[in-house]
Amino acid sequence: MKNILVTGGCGFIGANFVRLILQQLSDIRLINLDKLTYAGNLENLRDLEDDSRYRFVKGDICDAELLTQLFAEEQIDTVVHFAAESHVDRSITGPAEFIQTNINGTFALLETTRAAWLGEGQDAATKRFLHVSTDEVYGSLGATGLFTETTAYDPRSPYSASKAASDHLVSAYSHTYGLPILMTNCSNNYGPYQFPEKLVPLIINNALNGKDLPVYGDGKNIRDWLFVEDHCRAILTVLQDGSLGETYNVGGNSEKQNIDVVRTICDILDEKTAPLASGEPRQSLIRFVQDRAGHDRRYAIDASKIKADLGWEPTLQFEEGIRLTVDWYLQNSDWVSSVLDGSYQEYYEKMYGSNN
Ligand code: NAD
Ligand code: TYD
Repeated sequence: MKNILVTGGCGFIGANFVRLILQQLSDIRLINLDKLTYAGNLENLRDLEDDSRYRFVKGDICDAELLTQLFAEEQIDTVVHFAAESHVDRSITGPAEFIQTNINGTFALLETTRAAWLGEGQDAATKRFLHVSTDEVYGSLGATGLFTETTAYDPRSPYSASKAASDHLVSAYSHTYGLPILMTNCSNNYGPYQFPEKLVPLIINNALNGKDLPVYGDGKNIRDWLFVEDHCRAILTVLQDGSLGETYNVGGNSEKQNIDVVRTICDILDEKTAPLASGEPRQSLIRFVQDRAGHDRRYAIDASKIKADLGWEPTLQFEEGIRLTVDWYLQNSDWVSSVLDGSYQEYYEKMYGSNN
């Protein structure tokens, strides 16, 4: 593992992963290819810009020509594929981008990787393509049961359907062409640098500012929450020690109803920050709103394979991780403001001009 292409490294999980890998591995080169959609924030990695091991490239994973050029220039031997449209609500109102990036983009990346690694004289055995995916591909659980790596796919939102399609393509490239792939399917992440449209940062920001806290439906939908740094450690573990062709489920052993997530955040903010002007506890801001269309009821991961085979398990329970996360958002109010007012999108031009 020398020349690593990370796609989507300016997003939430990608940025945490880029940080982790540059901290953990000294002798590598890391190329971060990111289109800088609304979810990509170059400022997430601002402090790494002077690191000679790191190169940022603004570009689209659907751009086969650019991908081919990067593989040749940088002699890419490892791909960690995060780039995706990732927000379920957006996939309901505008699915086209999800099909384009998550399916066609993954296809373009696979084709380029195949051409670069499986051509004559190439040694694919030394290469790794890790596809980062989600537990949402497995559909929705009832009150009991857990998703395992062999649970049948049953995606139910345009987001999860597009991720499922990308997973199938990755798997097909392994079976058909022998592309050296690894796959991770992970539960809901939370932590630093998450775009404040997702439940945890949205609730932190609204509760801090005395705004309504929208809870979809009855608030009893369940997600299994994993602190993002634990997810990134899992990805690195799979990259280094995973068996080629295998899928690993990654989860936090932290199932929570949404309403409990929201209440916990309210209570932590009441404890750590000035009270609301009304003097009411922040739970008074909770509003039950119209449910999400097709809202999956429960996700829960059985992460025993990655624990048994590779020794990974989460280090943080939700109660600890959520406190760290609230602290991070309190300490990084400038980051939140720049995301909310859109000024984070000016940073690329300031740094690189309009061409790259
Ligand atoms: P994110 O939306 O925060 O970031 C996505 C990144 O991809 C952004 O930087 C964006 O600019 C970039 N991108 C989007 N389209 C692109 C394109 N066409 N070309 C190049 N770059 C592009 O997403 P995230 O939450 O960090 O998720 C990263 C990956 O992890 C996704 O594949 C997602 O499906 C998966 N995942 C996320 C979670 C979660 O809870 N967030 C859980 C499991 C798996
Ligand atoms: P989200 O963070 O969008 O992640 P995902 O849909 O990928 O699980 O949502 C997490 C849960 O919180 C999900 O059940 C939908 C719910 N939710 C709300 O109740 N209110 C909100 O404003 C948002 C964004 C999500």
